[in-house]
Amino acid sequence: METLANNLTAVILAAGQGTRMKSKKPKVLHEILGRPMLAYLIDTLKSAGVDDIVLVVGHQAERVQEAYRDYGVRFVVQEPQLGTGHAVQVAMPAVPPAAGTVMVLCGDAPLISGDSILALQRLHKSTGAAITIQTIELADGAHYGRVVREAGQVKAIVQCKDAKDCPEILAIGEINTGAYCFDAAFLKENLSRLAPSPVTREIYLTDLIQMAREQGRAVAPLVDPDRDNLLGINSRAELAAATQTIKRAINARHLDRGVTFIDPESAYIESGVTIGQDTTIYPNVYLQGQTVIGEDCVIEASVKIVDSTLENNVYVKMGSVITQSRLAAGVDIGPCAHLRPGADLRQRVHVGNFVEVKKSVLHEGVKAGHLTYLGDAEVGAGTNVGAGTITCNYDGEQKHRTIIGEKVFIGSNTALVAPVTVGAGAYVGAGSTITKEVPPGKLGISRARQVNKERRLIGTKKK
Ligand code: UD1
Ligand code: CA
Repeated sequence: METLANNLTAVILAAGQGTRMKSKKPKVLHEILGRPMLAYLIDTLKSAGVDDIVLVVGHQAERVQEAYRDYGVRFVVQEPQLGTGHAVQVAMPAVPPAAGTVMVLCGDAPLISGDSILALQRLHKSTGAAITIQTIELADGAHYGRVVREAGQVKAIVQCKDAKDCPEILAIGEINTGAYCFDAAFLKENLSRLAPSPVTREIYLTDLIQMAREQGRAVAPLVDPDRDNLLGINSRAELAAATQTIKRAINARHLDRGVTFIDPESAYIESGVTIGQDTTIYPNVYLQGQTVIGEDCVIEASVKIVDSTLENNVYVKMGSVITQSRLAAGVDIGPCAHLRPGADLRQRVHVGNFVEVKKSVLHEGVKAGHLTYLGDAEVGAGTNVGAGTITCNYDGEQKHRTIIGEKVFIGSNTALVAPVTVGAGAYVGAGSTITKEVPPGKLGISRARQVNKERRLIGTKKK
């Protein structure tokens, strides 16, 4: 990708509370497909070559700093929060003296594309303007700042709240997105001259536009066509809309790379997930975290996979949940299988309906077809685990391991009371409660012997 970012520092304004979210947590901690919203903005800036990023935090500053600690940004704390102009005043000491351009972005508009960022910089560079502002055209300017032009030139940005009595201003459809490039020297000279709005008492960054005009400096507007990605996130409805936007972009990339979706609108795939060619994704699927899915897999409907690796040719049937697990080539699971952390299913393992596996290795070709719990277990290659088998791994205080050898047959409804071992080639009779070792090749059986008695007639209904 083209980069232009020499001597440029980006300042992201994120000190506000985000009142309209009606939330206990600061707005910029709300997530879009598993990532806090600024993660997208920071990634985009970096991919456009902007490496020096200052994040202005304020409301619940510590929480916000904690969340973005590993994102390679510098923090400035704005306390109290007196407006966007004040936020940039507070950030200025953190801007390196050598910076020629300061790009200001709003933390609550994190979907801006790399192309939009580059276009803004390019225009700023080519015009030598004091301020380059990004605008969009809307049918209804809503709560956004209105761009007031005179003979085509930008004269001012007027805040919606300050224009309550000016219908002609409110009627303007061109609005300020909140992304700008400033000439750093102009910014340093003029920031301290901003005065609070008489209406809201906030210090507006946008008042610098009139100042530039008064000083005969150019203000360059860039009308960006990419409306959907530039609208801010101020409410839960806009957060949901942003999720849809990101989802579509991610799924479009997978479609491009040869993944089939029955309904791409209904699959929620986080940005850290990779999917191999010719894999098919059914509706209502959630793929999260650092999940890797191989080629020729099928992920049926209503499946959730978190931080797991699926090799090629894995088939996941409807309603299964997989967390921090590995599924080798040719594995098939479900419907309604539950693989919990540490489930390690080797090649061609079959795990059927209502089977739960936790912290267990199932070696090649193991079959556990129905209604089973395998926890803290090792199951040897080719072993068949009968319906309703339970590893009793917890004695009320500690977890214990169950070791089952190769080519074992565990009869249905067996309880394996751990710690316990079943040797290779052994056979366990159905309905057994196994508390002692079953040696290799032996038949272990432990259940009450059946007795058949005379049927009493008393109490039976006459026909
Ligand atoms: C702001 C703009 C408006 C523009 C809109 C685009 C101003 C005065 N208004 O309005 O012209 O159309 O963004 O979304 O600039 N913030 C701080 N510290 C503060 C106040 C705000 O860091 O003291 C941050 C907020 O966290 C937010 C951003 O600045 O990320 C914008 O602030 P917000 O209060 O949302 O401004 P808007 O009313 O949306
Ligand atoms: Ca806003």
